[in-house]
Amino acid sequence: MIRNFFIIIFILEFSVVDPSHFYGGTITARPENVSQTTGTVQLIVRERWSWRKSYYPVASRCTNAIIAAQTPMIGDGSAVACVSGAACGSHWSTGGATMNTLTWCTDYSENLDTHSGEYYNTFPIPINASFSICFASNAWLNAMGSGSGGSWSVCGRISTVVRPDGYLNTSPVAVSLPIIYKQVQVQHAHVVQMSDFDGSDTLICRWATSSGNVNGADECAGICRSTVASVPASLTGSNCTMSFTLPRARWYYGVALQIEDFYDSAAVTANKPMSSVPMQFLFYGYNDSSSCNTPPAIIGERPNRACIGVPINVTLTLTVIVQIFCAGKNISDFISTVPRGVTKGPITKNSGTGNYEMILTWTPRADQYGPQGICMAAIDNTNIPSNQWCITYLVGFDSPEVIRPKLVQGSASPIGTVFQNQTTFSIQTSKFVNRPTRNGTTIYFNNVTGGIVQQFDCGWDPHVTYTGYTIVINFDTAPWVPGQFYYVTMDSGVASGTEFCGPESAPMYDPTFWVFNIWNPAVSSTTTTTTTPFTTATVTTKPTSTTSINTLLTTTGIVITTTSVVTTTVTTSTSTTATTTTPLTVSTTTTESILSPISPKDFEEYCRQSIALMTSLILIALMPVHGLAMYGLFTKLDNTFNPSRIRTKQRHKQRMKRIL
Ligand SMILES: *[C@@H]1O[C@H](CO)[C@@H](O)[C@H](O)[C@H]1NC(C)=O
Ligand SMILES: *[C@@H]1O[C@H](CO)[C@@H](O)[C@H](O)[C@H]1NC(C)=O
Ligand SMILES: *[C@@H]1O[C@H](CO)[C@@H](O)[C@H](O)[C@H]1NC(C)=O
Ligand SMILES: *[C@@H]1O[C@H](CO)[C@@H](O)[C@H](O)[C@H]1NC(C)=O
Ligand SMILES: *[C@@H]1O[C@H](CO)[C@@H](O)[C@H](O)[C@H]1NC(C)=O
Ligand SMILES: *[C@@H]1O[C@H](CO)[C@@H](O)[C@H](O)[C@H]1NC(C)=O
Ligand SMILES: *[C@@H]1O[C@H](CO)[C@@H](O)[C@H](O)[C@H]1NC(C)=O
Ligand SMILES: *[C@@H]1O[C@H](CO)[C@@H](O)[C@H](O)[C@H]1NC(C)=O
Ligand SMILES: *[C@@H]1O[C@H](CO)[C@@H](O)[C@H](O)[C@H]1NC(C)=O
Repeated sequence: MIRNFFIIIFILEFSVVDPSHFYGGTITARPENVSQTTGTVQLIVRERWSWRKSYYPVASRCTNAIIAAQTPMIGDGSAVACVSGAACGSHWSTGGATMNTLTWCTDYSENLDTHSGEYYNTFPIPINASFSICFASNAWLNAMGSGSGGSWSVCGRISTVVRPDGYLNTSPVAVSLPIIYKQVQVQHAHVVQMSDFDGSDTLICRWATSSGNVNGADECAGICRSTVASVPASLTGSNCTMSFTLPRARWYYGVALQIEDFYDSAAVTANKPMSSVPMQFLFYGYNDSSSCNTPPAIIGERPNRACIGVPINVTLTLTVIVQIFCAGKNISDFISTVPRGVTKGPITKNSGTGNYEMILTWTPRADQYGPQGICMAAIDNTNIPSNQWCITYLVGFDSPEVIRPKLVQGSASPIGTVFQNQTTFSIQTSKFVNRPTRNGTTIYFNNVTGGIVQQFDCGWDPHVTYTGYTIVINFDTAPWVPGQFYYVTMDSGVASGTEFCGPESAPMYDPTFWVFNIWNPAVSSTTTTTTTPFTTATVTTKPTSTTSINTLLTTTGIVITTTSVVTTTVTTSTSTTATTTTPLTVSTTTTESILSPISPKDFEEYCRQSIALMTSLILIALMPVHGLAMYGLFTKLDNTFNPSRIRTKQRHKQRMKRIL
């Protein structure tokens, strides 16, 4: 009925209008509770679609007001229908009664004449069911290299069958902007990032096919591989990399992929995926013949691929900053994929820096708990796109913060005056931290008189280790000069939380945040120490908190084996008599923690373990995430992560036994 109603409306309003209006989309699903093995599964199904905006009546075209209203009203309203499998008819309607394609608008563009939206809802499905749902209609937009104005079909396989490991399956996720700009007549390798919350699954992507597939349905209609002859592309399924050349400028090329998750290699051989996720999008060919063809670039305020924890119900803003490299060009538009409820401000030019900026505002909802992605690409007025820039917000989680050191009861060690041979530095954080999952998260040791003495990229450098609430930095050799002053600064993400993509700490560039100076034996007992700035007469080397480390939670795989802190107390009473009126008493208490009786080489070994352990997480964090089912993947983290964490710990124990 609903469909007929809409069809009638469309026929009435658009009988003379070009019917082409589809730009692709995706469907994913996850169970609310992956541990369930009986009864009815509460299944969260998400859909995301992009459309040609001017096709719709003015009242149904996305605007900022419609984004803010959050009513599902963007799209066709036609059926997402069950086409094959146990649940069809009984638990998922073969008409449009269960789910239609009206979505909450999330993104729109006047210049590109598109709008996109997402919708998710929870549906009761009995356990042990495997079924396929499709959204099929017409027409794809015109001006496509192949399949112009043709039918579309987008199908997903969903399973509530208990996996061999005892859990319910979560669909893989792929994320893409709806339109990806590529220079024509140049060979491109485009990677579609895939990820799966079931970390041990093998993911393989393939071209959608019209028959003989797991969905038992036509997965691609007008844009099946066999019909896209004008783009001779090759596809590597294991990393979902496409190689192709777009022949014609100002034309679109449709891509229909299915991303499938397999339990193990036997399932791959037998071609028995647990689920199948459609991902359909468009390439758009452009011809950049201008003399200056450096594309614009999105820079900051947070770096690409950052993961940031945000609380529920608190409004946050994010500034997207775009740099232009060609005189006379400006930013005219953005292509974006954002979660429900994000509103975008106007594109403005910062007269100071010459950069273009857009402010996003969002109040995350309780039902958006978990990872939600924002992806953007800027388009300049000559239609040249920037790099893609993605941020993951982890809704309902805090980002860790490095704790500002105080002189006496400091969180950082050492502060104040330290020996020249000091090689171990540590700082505490507000929550349990891990190594960051991306490179470019650097900690700097700066000379107060200028210059970086040493820097470590926390993304990979084995000199930096993460143990519980503490970051430890180990120098190979101490570079310090007696009497000199130093301070420490940090990039965004030096400390990363342990949840999912690892919410990042904010950058810290304050030169007074963590300061220390080097004891100069030559002047130790004179008044010099009392007149120099930053100086303290007390050497406080705080032990790294070994006792607060809960080894069960050490996801880095590094277990602190020495629990007894070796304490050396040096008490020097130096009375200076001749030159000073007030005799100075230097009371030196050094508490040296033997936190790491392990060489950097050994650390490297452990870090490798922790990196291997985190591969699945890195994979997830690397992808250009958007909100769609990422949220769904979140719940399973603990279940999939724990066993490998425990295994790593056991491996480590064995190793330590051998060493000791
Ligand atoms: C998930 O299902 C398991 C098994 O039925 C049950 O023990 C657990 O309480 C459920 N968890 C939630 C959050 O409902
Ligand atoms: C699900 O299917 C498996 C294998 O067919 C069977 O062993 C199991 O009992 C079924 N579970 C339920 C709840 O029906
Ligand atoms: C994908 O895999 C193929 C074959 O192994 C390889 O040649 C290609 O470099 C890979 N692409 C990426 C982006 O890793
Ligand atoms: C790109 O533009 C140049 C200069 O205008 C033109 O010579 C060339 O044929 C164009 N290429 C395509 C594929 O349109
Ligand atoms: C968020 O706001 C809604 C509506 O005001 C309220 O029902 C909910 O409890 C709030 N959630 C949190 C976590 O503050
Ligand atoms: C961008 O440049 C075009 C001409 O190149 C100009 O018409 C337009 O007004 C400019 N837009 C902005 C926002 O500066
Ligand atoms: C550093 O130097 C101090 C004073 O010279 C000495 O007591 C201490 O043992 C040295 N520490 C190391 C690790 O060499
Ligand atoms: C980070 O940098 C290291 C050293 O250059 C490199 O080996 C590693 O592959 C990089 N990791 C990522 C995720 O780029
Ligand atoms: C710090 O700067 C001072 C003065 O410029 C210089 O003498 C000293 O060698 C520097 N220290 C280090 C460790 O680079």
